[in-house]
Amino acid sequence: MPRHFLGIESSCDDTGAAVVSEDREILSNIVVDQAELHAAFGGVVPEIAARAHAEKLDTAAALALKAAGKALSDIDAIAVTAGPGLIGGVLSGVMFARGLAAGSGAPLVAVNHLAGHALTPRLTDDVEFPYLMLLVSGGHCQLLMVRGPDNFSRLGGTIDDAPGEAFDKSARLLGLPQPGGPAIEAAANTGNPKRFAFPRPLLDRNDCNMSFSGLKTALRRERDKLIDAQGGLTRQDQSDLAGGFQAAVADVLTEKTRRAIALAMSDDTPPTCLAVAGGVAANKAIRAGLETISAETGLPFCAPPLALCTDNAAMIAWAGIELDRIGATNRAPLTARPRWPLDATQPALLGSGKKGAKA
Ligand code: KG4
Ligand code: ZN
Repeated sequence: MPRHFLGIESSCDDTGAAVVSEDREILSNIVVDQAELHAAFGGVVPEIAARAHAEKLDTAAALALKAAGKALSDIDAIAVTAGPGLIGGVLSGVMFARGLAAGSGAPLVAVNHLAGHALTPRLTDDVEFPYLMLLVSGGHCQLLMVRGPDNFSRLGGTIDDAPGEAFDKSARLLGLPQPGGPAIEAAANTGNPKRFAFPRPLLDRNDCNMSFSGLKTALRRERDKLIDAQGGLTRQDQSDLAGGFQAAVADVLTEKTRRAIALAMSDDTPPTCLAVAGGVAANKAIRAGLETISAETGLPFCAPPLALCTDNAAMIAWAGIELDRIGATNRAPLTARPRWPLDATQPALLGSGKKGAKA
């Protein structure tokens, strides 16, 4: 009988609870999002998020157990996101998981949220270590070699905004709705990406680091020029600006991933595939760029289903299973960590983003 783990996720604005088995079956995956609570503020408000997690965690866990057809006593271990993220939310989840563990006697596993994303291709596609992972979301942007459940090497990352953050801010500049990624993508579909010349930041540098905040500034400049000249933006202006911006982000992500592949391929143990995670991986232009380099380099492309690419607790339960296998259960005291880099050997690239401290 495979063991079953209950995963708990509350590091940003989604309250998640899920039951996953050792043999890679997702028995349930509940996500309660807080989009409505934050909509009026144009971003995630940490205090509101923490309170909403505290209110919804028990309901989410009860729903996850019910949907899985399990009682708490059937759960073999509890895996909880212990960072990085908005500290109030992380604390809500950690305290909740501690309470469940104390009440049920189940052991606890502290999971790094980014490790949850990074290990997802093993849950969905059973990929072999090591593999290359491009993690691109509203709060994160990293190119990682994933060598084991707690063995990651960062090849590069953003030195300022995460790509999703840049999409969201740019959508706001264009008067498009949030979340900005899908709104920009829809507008870009009818736009001419060549009308405006957007920069491709850091492509002149031969490393795998990226920068997206200058792109947003370039977009603002072009927008302001149009507003000064004609008093506002036409729908076509909006689409052309969105198209130019999206093409620039896609080019930067694609080229830097190409460099990461070249680096990784020269390793003693080359990667088995190129995997993606994070909400930005939904973008078709970005996906097409990655698929092209995958085909060019012969490195298979692995994109888990979107519901498992964005924040969820199934990935946390799964990471807990992987960590437990290597004996990481209860290895460290289970405290909430706002900052928790996956690769502690690399210097920090940036400070704090809209979704809290970045790893
Ligand atoms: O992984 P995710 O659901 O949440 C975290 O950031 O943790 O990612 C959300 C981000 C948002 O910034 C959103 O604008 C972006 O992913 N996103 C997209 C697309 N769909 C979502 N960005 C570009 N194109 C998309 N189609
Ligand atoms: Zn995430």
